[in-house]
Amino acid sequence: MCGIIGYIGSKQAIPVLLDGLKKLEYRGYDSSGVGIVCSSTHKLDLRKMHGKIHNLEKLIKDKPVGQSSVGISHTRWATHGAPNKVNAHPHFDCSKKILVVHNGIIENYEDLKRTLIQKGHKFVSETDTEVISHLIEQNYNGDIFEAVKKGIRHLRGAFALGVICSDDPEKLVAARVGSPLIVGIGNGENFIASDVPAIIDKTKKIIYLKDGEIATITRQEVLVHTFAGKQVKPKVNIVKFDVDAVKKQGYAHFMLKEIHEQPEVLAKIIKERIHGNRISLDGLKLTEKQLKAFKNIYIVACGTAYHAGLVGKYVIEKLASIPVSVDAASEFRYRDPIIDNKTLIIAISQSGETADTLAAVREARSKGAKIISICNVVGSSLSRDSDGILYTHAGPEIGVASTKAYIAQIAMLYLLALKLSSHTDKISERARLEIIKELKTIPSLYKDILKTKGLISKIAKKNSHFGCFLFLGRNINYPSALEGALKLKEISYIPAEGYAAGEMKHGPIALIDEYRAVVCIAVQSPTYEKMISNIQEIRARKGKIIAIATQGDQTIKKHSNHVVYVPRTLDLLTPLLVALPLQLFAYYVSVGLGCDVDQPRNLAKSVTVE
Ligand code: F6R
Repeated sequence: MCGIIGYIGSKQAIPVLLDGLKKLEYRGYDSSGVGIVCSSTHKLDLRKMHGKIHNLEKLIKDKPVGQSSVGISHTRWATHGAPNKVNAHPHFDCSKKILVVHNGIIENYEDLKRTLIQKGHKFVSETDTEVISHLIEQNYNGDIFEAVKKGIRHLRGAFALGVICSDDPEKLVAARVGSPLIVGIGNGENFIASDVPAIIDKTKKIIYLKDGEIATITRQEVLVHTFAGKQVKPKVNIVKFDVDAVKKQGYAHFMLKEIHEQPEVLAKIIKERIHGNRISLDGLKLTEKQLKAFKNIYIVACGTAYHAGLVGKYVIEKLASIPVSVDAASEFRYRDPIIDNKTLIIAISQSGETADTLAAVREARSKGAKIISICNVVGSSLSRDSDGILYTHAGPEIGVASTKAYIAQIAMLYLLALKLSSHTDKISERARLEIIKELKTIPSLYKDILKTKGLISKIAKKNSHFGCFLFLGRNINYPSALEGALKLKEISYIPAEGYAAGEMKHGPIALIDEYRAVVCIAVQSPTYEKMISNIQEIRARKGKIIAIATQGDQTIKKHSNHVVYVPRTLDLLTPLLVALPLQLFAYYVSVGLGCDVDQPRNLAKSVTVE
């Protein structure tokens, strides 16, 4: 979603801001803008443009702004009002003394706008953000920090703000509620940003602002206060990931790079979390006694993380016999879930900033549940809202379509299920050890799958003309089918539906004719033969079959137009394998169709509004 970067230092602000904006492109956006304090006149100036950042760069080249070493900038993912130049951020107040960039949504903006208009303020955009500029102006009495502090008291909703003021040209003001915002500490220069990749090549010293905090930032100093005005001593974190992690490193796209990182990601999780045959879940902060006491589990998550949660349900119920419900986080709190202090919530989120997941967690907490999270981004809002946290440490995921984070989430769920299984006698110790042993081999199996990418690319090319795809799986690979369909639709824009194969006869079979392609996950499992029957039903109706099968399966060739093989493993672990060909298939279809793989239209990497 929207991205913010602000700078105060001794360098020219525009190149720093444009560079930071480019690093935030992955979040998804449809317009962008910069606002600066002119060094000589102290006046504010701005440039805004619809579309990609190169449009903004061109505008600045054609119509340069004055010299400046203080500025704020923004990539906007449209919510209120079309993605055009006027609605792009930053937004001025009436006097053009104040400029604001904003991430989030102001829920009461219509009421505020009405009141401000009655007081004589003139609005130019359709955005909710513009009320913030005018509210600050309304409360301005010569001190921009005080004006921001007073103005934001009226806001309802989520916001991360960056503010500059021509009367106080040596200062950035930043504040947050609900939307992430960080302050980067440099040497004689400081930054604000919506996330770490925007500034990781400039500083590794980061303050994660907390909800309800406001920062005033000069070249030399960062002061943090609560909205109530109490000064707080912020924790300065040294972030670990290195600059190369946010570069493509020779891959055509971040998505392809991240697909190839999966062996390493999984191997790292195994190394960190499995010691001999012992599973170590440091970060959970739950005693064995507490773990034993849970009677039921809710998994809450969105999109791909929700699909990981569905795999988790199968695994936890199978290994530990604890009932698990998986909810789309956006629905969870509206259905009055039955929760008490014997309920464990597992929230799954790559970014840790997904508004729906955060809201679900807060709802569950208010009802007395314990919250643990599986999360990739260290220091995210979710990590702060959880009792325990299992970091996946998959490294920054830049491609909008989640790949390595999904594998890491599933891996964590296997480990959690194995841990919980040791408290029940659902499976024998021998079976537990066999799963652990097999899990350790999966990273090496990935290498074989990645070798099939040439074949997958050919299959993608041959089939990308189909206007609609079905993805079918059974049992533990039903979630894999959902995830395969999501990957394809989000980056190629081809309608794709994931179904439990057994459900096909109850509706989707009506779609099948010679113009449909069906991706069937038909790996060796107790439901393999049933899957073959489903495939035959599709073939009888002239549908084209792309099968994902287990190496050595010759039978499947008779029934399929194309087969991609994955190595043999335990049935329970197959979701870890089949994800890769599905990701590669979506990737090559998208490339073949000339789509924007890493930044698909309308999507945002981190969905910070509900
Ligand atoms: C799909 C995708 C999204 C995210 C979803 C949740 O490829 O990336 O569906 O999985 O928006 O995001 P996180 O995991 O950050 O909560």
